[in-house]
Amino acid sequence: SIETGIDGWLRYAALPADISSQYRRFSSIFVSENIKTSPVYTAGKEVQDGLRRILGQEVGISFEIDSNHTSAVIISTIDTSPTTLSTAQVPKLKEDGFWLNTQAENDCIHIIGQNERGALYGAFEYLMRLAQGNFEPVTAANNPSAPIRWVNQWDNLDGSIERGYGGLSIFFRDGEVVEDMTRVAQFARLLSSVRLNAVVVNNVNANPKLFSKTNLEGLRRIADTMRPWGLRIGISLYFDSPREFGGLPTSDPLDPDVNNWWTDITAKLYEKVPDLIGYTIKANSEGQPGPLTYNRTLADGANMFARALKPYGDGVVMYRAFVYNHHLDESKWSNDRANAAVEYFKDLDDQFDDNVIVQIKWGPIDFQVREPPSPLLANLRKTKVAIEFQVAQEYLGQQSHFVYMAPLWKEVLDFDMRIDGKPSAIRDIVSGERLNWSRSGYTTVLNIGSDNTWIGHHLSLSNLYAYGRMTWDPLSDPTSIIQDWTRLTFSLNKTVVDTVTKISMESWPTYENYSGNLGIQTLCDIIYTHYGPSPGSQDGNGWGQWTRANATSIGMDRTVASGSGNTAQYPQEVAKIYENIETTPDNLLLWFHHVPYTHRLKSGKTVIQHFYDAHYEGAAHAQTFPTEWAKLKGLIDDSRFENVAFKLQYQAGHAIVWRDSVNNFYHGKCGIADEKGRVANY
Ligand code: GCU
Repeated sequence: SIETGIDGWLRYAALPADISSQYRRFSSIFVSENIKTSPVYTAGKEVQDGLRRILGQEVGISFEIDSNHTSAVIISTIDTSPTTLSTAQVPKLKEDGFWLNTQAENDCIHIIGQNERGALYGAFEYLMRLAQGNFEPVTAANNPSAPIRWVNQWDNLDGSIERGYGGLSIFFRDGEVVEDMTRVAQFARLLSSVRLNAVVVNNVNANPKLFSKTNLEGLRRIADTMRPWGLRIGISLYFDSPREFGGLPTSDPLDPDVNNWWTDITAKLYEKVPDLIGYTIKANSEGQPGPLTYNRTLADGANMFARALKPYGDGVVMYRAFVYNHHLDESKWSNDRANAAVEYFKDLDDQFDDNVIVQIKWGPIDFQVREPPSPLLANLRKTKVAIEFQVAQEYLGQQSHFVYMAPLWKEVLDFDMRIDGKPSAIRDIVSGERLNWSRSGYTTVLNIGSDNTWIGHHLSLSNLYAYGRMTWDPLSDPTSIIQDWTRLTFSLNKTVVDTVTKISMESWPTYENYSGNLGIQTLCDIIYTHYGPSPGSQDGNGWGQWTRANATSIGMDRTVASGSGNTAQYPQEVAKIYENIETTPDNLLLWFHHVPYTHRLKSGKTVIQHFYDAHYEGAAHAQTFPTEWAKLKGLIDDSRFENVAFKLQYQAGHAIVWRDSVNNFYHGKCGIADEKGRVANY
């Protein structure tokens, strides 16, 4: 049934007959490619399916166009566009871009891709308009903001998924790639519809058994399944593979045998996957070996993989900047994990090969409920970068709570880094525009699984949709994104759209209120689960997600004047704002400054009273979510209604647990009573 969730936002629910009957009737769908592996062919099939489901029109596909065609949908690339068709009016398209013209001559619709993938994107764009009952004429080019629009799955070969909350892997089971590719194709369809172009299929904490003969064959299967959807695959590599898997005495990146080993593996991979998009590398991070283990630089490590990929064309190395010491000594006031990325990478700026991209988590620590943007995003000039988001709600409630992340991402992407005192919005840095890079962009930790919801919570799938929309066009408005998603996923009914939009837009501030305020981070368990309140777990260990809370004061001092000097890693104008407690925004106060609990915020409240109030407000607001949702009973299918109702009820209850745990913890620490006299009753 279309209500299981598997189709996500691509349900193509039938429009009411009085609406669909107003639309034109098509004579045929013309497709320029008759090869099943081509995304243009896929586009034709998708349009056929969509017209049937949305409008109830049964339209045949033809691979040959006759010159007096009328009322046809014509799908092609710029190069394969039929001669009868005028492409003169199509402006120059960027890679993956498309032209959609619903008012072409002879009552035709033209969908023209810059490449085959673009044609498929255009088909989805057209269908998603129809599915929303949007019959507005359109004649426009549509181009991506950046060429790299990837997702990272953290799937393990045994079928488990690191930080995955939507069931077991759709790719792997019991050490091998699965046989049945049904879910892989369905997944590819969803990704392609929001114009994402690559998937890294295995965990960044990678296992070299991926290179076994059966698994290489399995990777071929995955790539073959995804290719018709315009998707390419990449894989994560384990740095020490030559030593641990290849029987070599070392994995030193400058050792010729090690280089040969990777060259050989790369050749084997390309034999199975000729359009492999590249490698993702997590090295010298959280106990992983890496070039530093062999006294080489991170650039030496990255370039070794870059050289192996070079002969095959456009493959890239996504080298993760998530390099830090997780045995950091908290007793030293100047120690700061947030400094690590710039310290490790800045001086290597001119040393990376051309096909290396440094992949940078959006914040300096680790996907917290609020962080400033990573300063590394403003420190690399020659080295191209990709920003890393996390659709998997690891620190944001793990899909047992719902947080719609588009507003968070928008804040990050709109942030102006003021590189050299000039406008430098992060969206323009990662698009490559600001520093003139040819290849840069986006990736996200995604972690979908074999659950019907894909991700563990029906509402949370909106984050994948929104991620695609924002990477294509970072100026998109999070409110209209969620409205579109809701119409496509649930219903065109106004109450449904308004309710889901309201809950979604309120979800991040609500979660921030009950989980961690003023830039103190998500106060969850840090050691293992990253779930549930555990404000005591932040400090007293080497992970460096510290709060430095004691009986009188709290916060990380990241100033140059008296702390870790982290503020100086930002370009001057930004550094100045964060160095000064007066100009630091309240919501990042404790990220940058260590202050007494009695310190007064710009709001006039003390820090401790803000904690108490925010936790009460957040928990109270979470109670409104199930009540709001209850209005949708009968307006959407029961199965998804009940599922979400249960989750929101759970979240409401757990928000109270959060409130009381955090408030009691700080009350216990500082002994300052809540001005409003509230006490948790257990
Ligand atoms: C987080 C996450 C880990 C993951 C790591 C990474 O710390 O909890 O599970 O391995 O990020 O991004 O590499």
